[in-house]
Order: sequence, then structure tokens, then C-alpha cells
Amino acid sequence: MSNSITVLGIFVADLCFKGKNIPRVGETQIGDNFKINPGGKGSNQAITIAKLEGDVNFITRIGEDEYGKMALEIHRSNGVKVDGVIKDSNKPTGVAGIFIDEKGNNSINVIPGVANNISKKDIDNNLDNLKKSKIFLTQLEIPIEVNMYALDKAKENNCITILNPAPANIIDKQYFKLIDYFTPNETEVEFYLNRKIDKIEDLNKAGNDLLNLGFKNIIITLGEKGAYFKSENEEYLVDEYRLKNKVIDTTGAGDVFNGAFACALANNKKIKDAIIFANKVAAISTTKLGAANSIPTLDQVNSN
Ligand code: RIB
Repeated sequence: MSNSITVLGIFVADLCFKGKNIPRVGETQIGDNFKINPGGKGSNQAITIAKLEGDVNFITRIGEDEYGKMALEIHRSNGVKVDGVIKDSNKPTGVAGIFIDEKGNNSINVIPGVANNISKKDIDNNLDNLKKSKIFLTQLEIPIEVNMYALDKAKENNCITILNPAPANIIDKQYFKLIDYFTPNETEVEFYLNRKIDKIEDLNKAGNDLLNLGFKNIIITLGEKGAYFKSENEEYLVDEYRLKNKVIDTTGAGDVFNGAFACALANNKKIKDAIIFANKVAAISTTKLGAANSIPTLDQVNSN
């Protein structure tokens, strides 16, 4: 079987505002720095895989505009295969407004733009790539019925499926069985279980409850606290990666984790080793400003 990975999701241009704090409702602040960077969870994941020297196809829609050109430029220059990137002049490429505070925390509003036009037909048109893929990875920034259709097709074609449920959205329970790895962060777990996750001790029950819903393997990303894994037979916490440098911007760290995890699985790493690797790559990405621009190469990861 090939090692290739198909990622379905969006590209958007991230309009990043860095300042002391994330502005509160009704507040105006004078910030420190503004930059337009490539972003979108699916695109960030695909670029992570390519930078780690994985074989990756990306399925999305971009507009015929400046941000669409930015997408193609960053995908091509990093080696993401773009046969599944459809140019659609009906709407503009999406954007995200991102506020980042001095500790690197963020708050994001995404307008998916033309990526909202991604359809089941786009998945059908990419079946050849899906058939050749070992892994299918997606998130929830496109119309959810297309995500679910694609997961179904991926399973039909024997792919290992990873759903990063970000941003959290209602998933019909008939689809839970299609998901081999469910990778929420703590906030997303709270959405699916409808209760607060306050302490590390809450994770065991959360893991059990998610398994009982029908997901096969659960990975809860915990930011600077590492990651938690639960399956029918195993449960463990993977510690955070101790960074040598200061955290500048956590935007996209979850995407980098998912891309790196998929890449490690495609290379036949054991699940625990794949999580340790993904934690490290994601942590390194937080030491630079931006989502896609902060993703380290495999050489940078190995020398860190
Ligand atoms: O996960 C970070 C990403 O979420 C950003 O790049 C932004 O575009 C949003 O999609």
C-alpha cells in the first residue's frame, strides 16, 4: 500500500493582529504587528505533511484572486500535490481574522469563502487519489455533509481516517464508525460531551465516553500539557515537548499536530511514537508567528 495521504479542507488567508491582549467586546486596542499569512486548517495540515517529506494530495476550492495565488504558491513550493485544488471564480478565497496576544494565545473568525462550494462531486472527482491513499485526514471547516461523504468514500477505499473535529460541529451518530482517529482539543471534547473538562483526571471518563459513542481511537490534544490517547485496549498521556524557545503564536498548532500524526502513521510509526512526534512538531511551530509559515521542515524537527 502507498504511503500517501489525502487531506480535505480549506485554504484561507490569515489576517493576523498581534498585540498585548486579545481585545474584549467593545474594546479598541493599538496592536504591535500585522501580517497576512497562509492558513486554513486543511491547508496547514497538508503543508505540514509536505514539509515533513510526506506524500500529500490536497482537495479544496480557491478563488481566482490574490489569495488563491498565495495558496497555489505555498502548496507548490512545499510539494503539496494540487490536482484536487479547484479554481472557482464564483466567490473569493476565504479569510480568517486572527487576534494573537503576547503569550501566543489566539482567537479566530473564519470566512471560508469559495471553500463553502466544495461538493460531493469534488470528492468523486478525486476518487483515484483517495484509492491510492493510505490515510484520509479532514476537519470541519467545509460543509459537514461533504466531510461525511468523503469519510465514507475513504473507508470504502480502505483508508485510515482521521477526523480533527475543528471547529466542533454536530456529527450525526451514524458517521462515528467511519472515524478511526478522532482528535479533538479540550474545548471540542466539551462540545461533544456537553460538559467541562477541567482537570487531567476528567480525561479518562471523557475518553471512555467518546469511545462509547463509536470512535475507535481518541487523541485529545492538550496544548502545553501534551496529548491524551485512549483506545479499547490502551490509555496514556504523552507529556508536552519541552521547548528551548519562547512561544510566540499557537495558531495552527493543532493542525500541525494532525498533519504530523498522519505523516508518522503513513510511515508506519506506532501510535504512541506518532503522538510523541506530532507533539514535538506542533510545539516547534508555536515558536514563530503564523500558521503555515511556522511549520518546521523534517530537518528542523530532527535538529531540535
Ligand atoms: O487552526 C488555525 C487555522 O484555523 C488558521 O490558519 C485559520 O485560518 C483557521 O482556519
